[in-house]
Amino acid sequence: MITIEVCLGSSCFLKGADEVVQAFQKLAESLPPGKVDIRGSFCMGRCQEGVTVRIGDRYFTGIRASDVPRIFDEFVRQAVSP
Ligand code: FES
Repeated sequence: MITIEVCLGSSCFLKGADEVVQAFQKLAESLPPGKVDIRGSFCMGRCQEGVTVRIGDRYFTGIRASDVPRIFDEFVRQAVSP
């Protein structure tokens, strides 16, 4: 199980965090159930660089919904593939 946290703090929210969450959710549907946990998060302290996403110990900043497929393939899909 991989946990993806998307900051839903006010700064990230204004920069499109909701669309980022939806993009991750849509891609997660292509994986078997129970492989990915997508959560909203409080501010991660990187507001100037938002939208901020954390996958495991790794932070991603400046994320837009259009960035999500690349990140998902590289850091999520590969990690949960058998
Ligand atoms: S509001 Fe997202 S890092 Fe602060």
